[in-house]
Amino acid sequence: KMEYVTCTAPVNIAVIKYWGKRDEKLVLPMNSSVSVTLSQDQLRAKTTIAACKTFSNDKIWLNGREESFDNPRIQNLLHEVKCRARIQNGSDLDQLLSWKIHICSENNFPTAAGLASSAAGYACLAFTLAQLYKVTGDVSDIARRGSGSACRSVYGGFVVWNKGENIDGTDSIARQILPHTHWSDLHILILVVSDQKKHTGSSEGMQKTVQTSELYKQRVKCVPERTDDIIDAIKNKDFDKFAEITMKDSNQLHAVCLDTYPPISYLTDTSRDIMTLVHRYNTFKAQNKVAYTFDAGPNACLYLNEADVPGVISIIEYFFPPTSQSQHFITGLPINTRAIEKEFISNVTIPIQPDGLKYVIHTTVGDGPRVCTNE
Ligand code: DP6
Repeated sequence: KMEYVTCTAPVNIAVIKYWGKRDEKLVLPMNSSVSVTLSQDQLRAKTTIAACKTFSNDKIWLNGREESFDNPRIQNLLHEVKCRARIQNGSDLDQLLSWKIHICSENNFPTAAGLASSAAGYACLAFTLAQLYKVTGDVSDIARRGSGSACRSVYGGFVVWNKGENIDGTDSIARQILPHTHWSDLHILILVVSDQKKHTGSSEGMQKTVQTSELYKQRVKCVPERTDDIIDAIKNKDFDKFAEITMKDSNQLHAVCLDTYPPISYLTDTSRDIMTLVHRYNTFKAQNKVAYTFDAGPNACLYLNEADVPGVISIIEYFFPPTSQSQHFITGLPINTRAIEKEFISNVTIPIQPDGLKYVIHTTVGDGPRVCTNE
């Protein structure tokens, strides 16, 4: 006999960044964070887990390649979900829990593109295991064991991960602020600057920051007010405010990275060109129309309202002309009209390295993990 289940989970992009742990083992953050969950139509992880009496070992395949099951993050997550299953189901599941499992997980986007693939992957693992072992209720703290940012991918829409106060981490969980339907015309453009993975990993980077940065102490103090303010901006769909806080928080993250010793720099010349372009455009429009945010890599994530997508795309294509190799320069949701921001383009002169952008993914806000039937 065999039990199996398949689920999908989304990517999330933080607007208030998680950076720094107060407990490495339990994955407890120094500050709360806020994120937007992206649509699974464009970006998602998909995981199938089978449990069988005759399997002799636990095994895992990521994007078709077998990986070690001894990974402490996977072990930590699996231990937590099994404990929860025993508490909730008593001895009913003893047999199933004793069987070995085979896990097969794949992303529908490049893993190394710096697109928080670990968040979607670990959220999907936690959610799928919870389905298999009939665990009910919040699974964000289970996902958190895999990767901190993964706890926010177990919900759709707008999500806050409360840092929590308890030393055992029981109150360090994510919750939904509002579903994706609340602000469905909020669109996202992911500007892939590089799909090479060669920078300091976030776990290692944040550890160094906590140990060495003076500026970081200041950051931790100002995050609570920012978190409250951005939650208000989301509730009121106040894009101007949402954008300002998002950009300031991204800039502060990268400032504390540079203040880390030895310094960590994730941004490249192209990342900074994108920042300049966004600020010039917002100034030209006399209000914030676009917000950028950067994680532990050079790729930009832009938030903007649907109505501004065609104009902003025209600017991106003008300053970063697609090369002959980039046939599918823009993927994801189609661009409905081809409005061109002629006046802006002819008024600004910014020295930009033209071949800086690889491709652009156009997507929107999306819902949380799903169980796939008939698969
Ligand atoms: C910059 O969740 O990857 O993307 O908990 O060590 O696995 P670990 O770190 P991870 O860190 C994400 C950092 C970030 C900001 C964010 O997503 O909030």
